[in-house]
Amino acid sequence: MNLFSSINIGNISLKNRIFMAPLTRCRSVQDNTPNDLMAEYYAQRATAGLIISEATQISTMGIGYPCTPGIYTNEQVLGWKKITQAVHQRDGKIFLQLWHVGRISHSSYLQGKTPLAPSAIKPAGEVFTFDGMKEYETPRAITSDEIYDIVQEYVRAAKNAIEAGFDGVEIHGANGYLLDQFLRDGTNTREDNYGGNIENRSRFLFEIIQAVSSEIGSDKIGLRLSPSGTFNDMSDSNPKKHFTYVCEKLNNFNLAYVHIIDALEGDIRHGANVVELSILRAAYKGVLITNGAYDKNRGEETIRNNQADAIAYGSLFISNPDLPERFKINATLNEADPQTFYTQDKKGYTDYPSL
Ligand SMILES: Cc1cc2nc3c(=O)[nH]c(=O)nc-3n(C[C@H](O)[C@H](O)[C@H](O)COP(=O)(O)O)c2cc1C
Repeated sequence: MNLFSSINIGNISLKNRIFMAPLTRCRSVQDNTPNDLMAEYYAQRATAGLIISEATQISTMGIGYPCTPGIYTNEQVLGWKKITQAVHQRDGKIFLQLWHVGRISHSSYLQGKTPLAPSAIKPAGEVFTFDGMKEYETPRAITSDEIYDIVQEYVRAAKNAIEAGFDGVEIHGANGYLLDQFLRDGTNTREDNYGGNIENRSRFLFEIIQAVSSEIGSDKIGLRLSPSGTFNDMSDSNPKKHFTYVCEKLNNFNLAYVHIIDALEGDIRHGANVVELSILRAAYKGVLITNGAYDKNRGEETIRNNQADAIAYGSLFISNPDLPERFKINATLNEADPQTFYTQDKKGYTDYPSL
């Protein structure tokens, strides 16, 4: 088994284990609607075993950044359709990452409304707005009726994704956004059925997985988690215990995969709280993807040692549209330019050269 071995996830067969990680690129300049430039970008990367799309809002309250795409209007579905067609024409496969940012937003993105979160706990730091950097606002705690509504928003978004031609969806449970905010006790101090112990804190996630499974089938669902992550001011008292529980319980759902972001350098302040991949590999019995500063050799080693089934590459796929081919022949890799990660045109987006 190596990076170039095929792999099945759900009912689909993928040509290699070199996946493209979800990458927000802020090119949806018109009304959060995907466009032709994005179709070109994703089609260029269709040799990935699986493309996981950039994070995509399930609703208007899920927005937290400028020019990020959604999947809640007809125009957005039509825009995405062109992208999935372009990827499929090149024999690629693509999942859509479903996103609700929760408290990592600002009222200026939300028609003046206050960002939503499990509890009214303000994130440290600043948010980018159209009027420059601003302090985060204190979010409003979601009511239990709203929890039901948001589950329905996930269902509608997943249904739209399938209509738009995606091969499946990845539920974004990582990086300090809404679902992660529920999972961790640093951001969830609710006193109802959705807060307190990890059984309660994970209830929202499992309700979403159950409801989306009923709509599109569990074998078309992936889930992304970042158990060691501190990005977006996240913390948890015992991530090893809590995320082991979540991964064990995920065995009850026949998911396409679980996708773990390994501890990154910036997570070092977690110290002893870093959750080793081996713990989660032992807990979860299905297809496991890992990600986080992998190169070819570390990816090969991880698969050879059976620590994961596939590797997702982020920055390397930004600058190397033909990454699998380059890995195959050990070609030189292009360097990614962070200055153009979130700009609004083709520079640093579709102009990285293939071999
Ligand atoms: C420009 C950029 C945008 C990102 N956008 C997303 C995103 O939309 N969803 C997500 O789950 N992670 C996102 N991430 C995190 C990446 O998926 C990945 O976890 C991270 O880059 C580490 O992997 P790498 O070392 O292979 O780049 C983003 C990272 C970068 C650099």
